[in-house]
Amino acid sequence: MMLLDGQGRKHDYLRISVTDRCNLRCVYCMGDEGIAQMSHDQIISYEEILKVVVAAAELGISKIRITGGEPLVRKDLVNLIKMIAEVPGIKDLAMTTNGTLLLRYIEALKKAGLNRVNISLDTLDADKYQKITRCGKFEDVIKAIDASLDYNLNPVKINTVLMKGVNDDEVLAFLKLAMQKPLHIRFIEYMKIGDHDQAYSNHYLPLSFVEKTAKKAGLPFKPVPLPGGSGPAESYTFPGSKGTIGLIHPISKHFCDSCNRLRLTSEGSLKACLYWQDEKPVQPFLNNKEALKNLIREVLYGKPVEHEMAIHSKCGSINPGSMRGMSKTGG
Ligand code: 5AD
Ligand code: SF4
Repeated sequence: MMLLDGQGRKHDYLRISVTDRCNLRCVYCMGDEGIAQMSHDQIISYEEILKVVVAAAELGISKIRITGGEPLVRKDLVNLIKMIAEVPGIKDLAMTTNGTLLLRYIEALKKAGLNRVNISLDTLDADKYQKITRCGKFEDVIKAIDASLDYNLNPVKINTVLMKGVNDDEVLAFLKLAMQKPLHIRFIEYMKIGDHDQAYSNHYLPLSFVEKTAKKAGLPFKPVPLPGGSGPAESYTFPGSKGTIGLIHPISKHFCDSCNRLRLTSEGSLKACLYWQDEKPVQPFLNNKEALKNLIREVLYGKPVEHEMAIHSKCGSINPGSMRGMSKTGG
């Protein structure tokens, strides 16, 4: 079964945000008071999520990613993982996490059927980690990363937001880490989301900085395909390296052409594009699988050709008017 959007792009990937809450307060994601949280009855239940997954799988979705906020702050997440892993047609089940709570659940998650993880880590310095996340413990994440390799949650990907004056002095250290361990370290271009304009203009740095740093250090970048598809990332490796380096350019390069993803928000709405305001609540369709399938088709049919941000950046200014913080939509 092939699920196409209005532009003929094949869709096989559903990202599910299970909560808008997070145990951290990363500076580029939220203010220090956190975000206004939704009350529990606004959050989509696991049973409801499962109905969407079943309908989506019947239409051709085979890859699922669980995101947040921080997915592991939601109660009984292991149960949801188990239920989704058992849905026929789901071949790849991944989770994006900040890693701070991962160690205590990793064995159960693996057993439940989680295939792989993306862990956010913007620095290799414990004090800096504290500053960026405002409340995270560096050691917890490092242990979780090693455990993910031990438990074969492969490929283990690391998400690193590149920030001028914050971690640009650590690019080489991250490259060395990718040489030593089979980690896929992906530098993410700092995006202007939420209400952090000042922080954005102070700290934005184009990803070409990573390539320049590698060249300066005499590390020739060679493009490589990543197992499981690398999505919008460009991936590179260098001689003697166990892992890879990825560059994710949401603003300055175009990835809309090959976009294969659909999103379910923690409030229970389907969204075809992260950067688009349009979303459709699934609630009225949950008791009728055919109606739910039609809703999915409809949402994809209306999917924009490219996102606002790309359109605006083409005109020379970046002004993604309608965007909300990452913790609400889940990356
Ligand atoms: N710019 C770039 N990346 C961001 N993330 C959250 N907010 C931003 C932003 N403003 C990243 C997190 C996490 C992923 C889900 O999204 O670091 O790795
Ligand atoms: Fe939490 Fe991720 Fe936002 Fe950091 S970026 S506060 S870990 S949701």
